[in-house]
Amino acid sequence: MKLVLLGAPGAGKGTQAQILSEKLGVPMISTGNILRAAVKNETPVGLRAKAYMDSGELVPDEVIIGIMRERMAEPDCAGGYILDGMPRTITQAEALDTGGVEVETALTIEISDEEIIARMSGRRVCPDCGETYHTVYEPPDKPGVCDKCGRALTIRRDDEPETVKNRLKVYHAETEPLKDFYAARGKLLTVENRDGIAETTKIIFEALGI
Ligand code: AP5
Repeated sequence: MKLVLLGAPGAGKGTQAQILSEKLGVPMISTGNILRAAVKNETPVGLRAKAYMDSGELVPDEVIIGIMRERMAEPDCAGGYILDGMPRTITQAEALDTGGVEVETALTIEISDEEIIARMSGRRVCPDCGETYHTVYEPPDKPGVCDKCGRALTIRRDDEPETVKNRLKVYHAETEPLKDFYAARGKLLTVENRDGIAETTKIIFEALGI
């Protein structure tokens, strides 16, 4: 299974990628998570990516393509993977093609900008292990504390309302054209967001026939 998840920032790609990864037994590869770890560890990639991420702009294609080549060469990717957050541009999708990666399905989660702006204000993340929560839809057992490692939860820097608006603008300009890219290849599946993670998982499983 080589599955690409598309959708606006906050559409639920990371949440559903994790669920699908467990269900299908293949790794999820999240460029956002890889980049956030690189920023935290102040690696050369992280130092280069930080300003783009903080302002809601895309990190340059060549950086992303390099990260992905390295990650996909790891042994756990031999049986397939779920790509969360990549490709984000036509150039990145073409790099997958030329790198011999045959995407089987690109699944897009459709949600309005208004719903995204409202939803993002409730996202909380663990600065240590990266686990994601939502104050309403996926609350931790103890408010404000990570279930997994006990650290105080924080708000992602790029979830500030103005940055979210810019991320949406970038999404419509740079990433949304990928829907046509994959539709033209007969690989696009579309699901409409549901309010609630389990409800959305249900329609995704139905769409994928799993
Ligand atoms: P990245 O981390 O990929 O951010 P994103 O695509 O903007 O996606 P998010 O992680 O914000 O949201 P999501 O769709 O995964 O939603 P989630 O499941 O968390 O990238 C960050 C930055 O890195 C980019 O801006 C860019 O700078 C850079 N970058 C990354 N990849 C790149 C690339 N390929 N090229 C260039 N630059 C790149 O859910 C959101 C919240 O909603 C959570 O709180 C969750 O609990 C909740 N939720 C989820 N589903 C539902 C539901 N159905 N109902 C109610 N609540 C829900």
